[in-house]
Amino acid sequence: TFNVGIVGATGAVGKEIVGCLEKRSFPVNGLRIFGSERSAGKEVDTKFGKVTVELFSEEAARECDVVFLAVDGDFSLKHAENICAGDDGPVVIDNSSAFRYKEGIPLCVPEINAETTKGKKLIANPNCTTAIGLMAVWPLHKLFGLTKMVMSTYQAASGAGQPGMDELVEGTRSVLNGERDVAENKIFAHPLPFNVIPHIDKFQENGYTKEEMKVTWETRKICGLADDFPVSCTAVRIPTSRAHSESIVALFEKPVDVAAARKALEEAPGVKLRDDPEKLSYPMPLTATGQYDIEVGRLRKNIAFDNALEFFVCGDQLLRGAALNAVIVAEAMID
Ligand code: HSE
Repeated sequence: TFNVGIVGATGAVGKEIVGCLEKRSFPVNGLRIFGSERSAGKEVDTKFGKVTVELFSEEAARECDVVFLAVDGDFSLKHAENICAGDDGPVVIDNSSAFRYKEGIPLCVPEINAETTKGKKLIANPNCTTAIGLMAVWPLHKLFGLTKMVMSTYQAASGAGQPGMDELVEGTRSVLNGERDVAENKIFAHPLPFNVIPHIDKFQENGYTKEEMKVTWETRKICGLADDFPVSCTAVRIPTSRAHSESIVALFEKPVDVAAARKALEEAPGVKLRDDPEKLSYPMPLTATGQYDIEVGRLRKNIAFDNALEFFVCGDQLLRGAALNAVIVAEAMID
């Protein structure tokens, strides 16, 4: 059994890491929660007993066997490598983007590239949108050989953490109560209630946002594709709570067959095919929320391109997009 540490356990992702550890079978011996001066001393009720939040220090984190970092990238950059340094350091699974693009550091979706974590001490957990989309794309890539991908996303407020979820709920309430015509915004670039915002994270020189480029960079690394493999994304924030949705057009080397694609998706671990339009059954944030599996549906041959499939994916971005993926990485490493 393992001594597990979490830094940032009171945030939106951290809470879900605790939840996944409670519900799944990772052999936890003891759980330690590390936080800032502000949260140190608070008590958190868990299946493993009442845990008092300890003030974070690298030395204390090094006493664990596995450490999950659910904090911002600057914190990870400063501390992650020191925590796991040396043969006796713990395994660190980092949820930020600080190490995702560094050579030699695995970027892992376990159902796709678990083997990359062998013998490694620091593992990067992917961007939520990328992890969710690739769960559906990977089985199709294995069948038909991906050559290009275009993605449009519809991303939930939780991508900006608990403050983002709160801003959506409170802003919606203030409009419905007639207090305001348009909600206030601090977290998002514009008011999110009754709106969609085609802008997540910073704009880059090429006109894409960082969130969009993460999908490009991370798809290449996770799937072992070339450094110039063509992936394009438009990432949009919408007023949903915590499941991201994605419309994906995937082009392939081989002719595509929808029945074979359906079978591959049905058999893929972590994927639920929800695709019966006659019964109005397709992926939606409402049905994907709180689920470990991502949903795939609206699967069809794309009529604009040869050898192309088009489909819709929904996944809980706090689970497969973050906490669950991190916990499955840990599980896969002890298998
Ligand atoms: N960047 C994502 C979003 C969340 O804002 O939706 C986590 O990767």
